[in-house]
Amino acid sequence: MVEEVLMGGPQESFQDFLKVDKYRERISQMALAGKTSFIVDFEDLITVDSALAEHILKKPDEYLKHANQAAHAQLQIEEPEYAERTESVTVRFRGLPQPMSLRNLGAEHIGRLAMVEGIIIRATPARPMVTRAAFKCKRCGEISYRDQGTPFLRAPFACDSPSCRRKGPFDFLQEMSDFIDSQEIRIQERPEDLPPGQLPRWIDTKIFGRDLVDVARPGDDVSVIGIVRAAAPTVPKVGKLRTFRLHLDSNFIDVLSKEPEAVLISPQEEEKIFELARDPWAHRKILRSIAPSIYGYEYIKESIMYLLFGGVPKRLPDITIRGDMNLLLVGDPGTAKSQLLQYVAKVAPRGLYTSGRGSTAAGLTAAVLRERRGGMTLEAGALVLADKGVACIDEIDKMRPEDRVAIHEAMEQHTVSVAKGGIVATLNARTAILAAANPAFGRYDPYRTVAENITLPVTILSRFDLIFVLRDVPKKEIDAKMTEHILDLHRTGTPPVEAPISPDLLRKYISYSRSIKPALTEEALERLKDFYLTMRSASETEGTPIAITARQLESLVRVAEARARAALRKEILAEDAEASIAIMKRSLEEVGIDISSHKLDIDIIMTGKPKSLRDKLQVVLGTLIEMEKDTGMVERSALLEKLETESSILSGEAERLLGQMLREGTIYSPKEGYLKKT
Ligand SMILES: Nc1ncnc2c1ncn2[C@@H]1O[C@H](COP(=O)(O)OP(=O)(O)O)[C@@H](O)[C@H]1O
Ligand SMILES: [Mg+2]
Ligand SMILES: [Zn+2]
Repeated sequence: MVEEVLMGGPQESFQDFLKVDKYRERISQMALAGKTSFIVDFEDLITVDSALAEHILKKPDEYLKHANQAAHAQLQIEEPEYAERTESVTVRFRGLPQPMSLRNLGAEHIGRLAMVEGIIIRATPARPMVTRAAFKCKRCGEISYRDQGTPFLRAPFACDSPSCRRKGPFDFLQEMSDFIDSQEIRIQERPEDLPPGQLPRWIDTKIFGRDLVDVARPGDDVSVIGIVRAAAPTVPKVGKLRTFRLHLDSNFIDVLSKEPEAVLISPQEEEKIFELARDPWAHRKILRSIAPSIYGYEYIKESIMYLLFGGVPKRLPDITIRGDMNLLLVGDPGTAKSQLLQYVAKVAPRGLYTSGRGSTAAGLTAAVLRERRGGMTLEAGALVLADKGVACIDEIDKMRPEDRVAIHEAMEQHTVSVAKGGIVATLNARTAILAAANPAFGRYDPYRTVAENITLPVTILSRFDLIFVLRDVPKKEIDAKMTEHILDLHRTGTPPVEAPISPDLLRKYISYSRSIKPALTEEALERLKDFYLTMRSASETEGTPIAITARQLESLVRVAEARARAALRKEILAEDAEASIAIMKRSLEEVGIDISSHKLDIDIIMTGKPKSLRDKLQVVLGTLIEMEKDTGMVERSALLEKLETESSILSGEAERLLGQMLREGTIYSPKEGYLKKT
């Protein structure tokens, strides 16, 4: 490319560019607000003076100075008084033509201006940094000033006084030095930009200036414009390394919106989306497109569908109620839990797959870390990075103790608060959670409650909208079909059932649906209310502990909203409410509650210690003792029958009670199928 010759000096050219109304206004506004920086849209510069734009990109160190001087000169014209009082003006550039992928940033970009997009994963607190330091000579008292450009404070080599010229020693004079606010942040590739199987790349970025410091927090999606620098790390007592590390000296940070429009949808795709939404079988089609290679688990896939579409968050003046769902899969090893999670991380707009331990020191929530050079830095964990997306947490039972404390707030309030090491911050974690947990005893024990089966506290369990148990029990018929399914998959290398909707279109469909905020119709509201109240009153009249809590009611609404969204409907119909009730019942049954008896006992799932449990154990033991009087030892099936007919304790529950008594050693089994009190 032939370089154009700039007419006049670069500073004059830039000042000419600033003479349009748009920038004259911005300069006046800057003065009015008492600020010392303003934003220039880079596109404008390209349009007006492409040669100058080109120079700024290639030689930012030199040309950004010209731009700042031009801005100050123009300020003298617009607001002479303010210009008098202001030493310098900083021009901030927004929107370079092309964002640079962190993956492609390399040696050839050193010294150039680049725009990098990603998520902030770390941030130090804002700290004042000396730009111009004043030093007092201890021998003669002369004050010498030195501009500071390195990470270390540098004293003058020799005193400025012509009659002294000695090498100090010097005292640093803080009150006569100039400071600027500074901060360091680390920007990492977004989960959705990450090539499969690759570790995310990151770059450290230095921020200078009151107007840029603290505008963005960990978890925020940003576009940073800055000069690419390379610095050699210093190894103590050895010297500087020959391999350099890249970082950015930022000129501007733009906090980007995370709204789903970010996913580009073409007009043809939009047409396909509408067509799908009109399909009366839309829900089935979506369901069949979720992890088609995984056999069975229809209701789990249905729940995953609801999780992907999500409910509508309610922002009331005093409180907010989350719209995103939390779903937990508890199950035996080898039941495709990890596979399901990985699939969801891929198809969800901004999906992130991580293990309970998290993939970084920050774990699932956040951590305050000590930096190598001293000082503290706040690092975002998985739930913050998945903000406005779906966090798939495998083996959630293995999370760090710190996360066990912090995850409550993240799951319900959708924030992560940190107050440690001088850092006080609240980060956003507006994410749906799909978690998997392995049973504490290796295999799921159906005679124990969910709470007993996994090592997660009740307070965390109760924050999941739906919980499902995946058990690996041999069942002839299912085994045969599943074997065929898996072998077929291995033979052909394709899923035995083809997905009606491609993952790419599904992701776009989900993104598109997020703008819809379905509202309850009268009929849907009635159904949910009926279901909820029946359960409540059932538990009231029969004197059991609270059967179902307001949390379940909110879950019911979320599922119904998600189902309406999945059909791009603005109205929540009776069918949505019914589907929601059905899946909720299913989930409650899975974790050991018999709905048909109306003896819903959410305490059983959660604490494993319902108020009435002891009474029930007494009834079972009493019945057993009574029967023993006649027969010596008691046939298990006869006991179950008697319990059901006389005390209306259903066999599922009775089995669980017997299991517990067997474990506790209150009763034992003298021979197969028989029981006896110890
Ligand atoms: N229902 C199923 N359909 C297809 N494959 C399955 C199914 N259940 C298990 N598998 C296969 O078994 C393997 C183990 O699954 P994995 O997700 O690692 O289990 P988990 O995380 O539950 O221990 C995977 O290769 C998975 O594809
Ligand atoms: Mg696994
Ligand atoms: Zn001196």
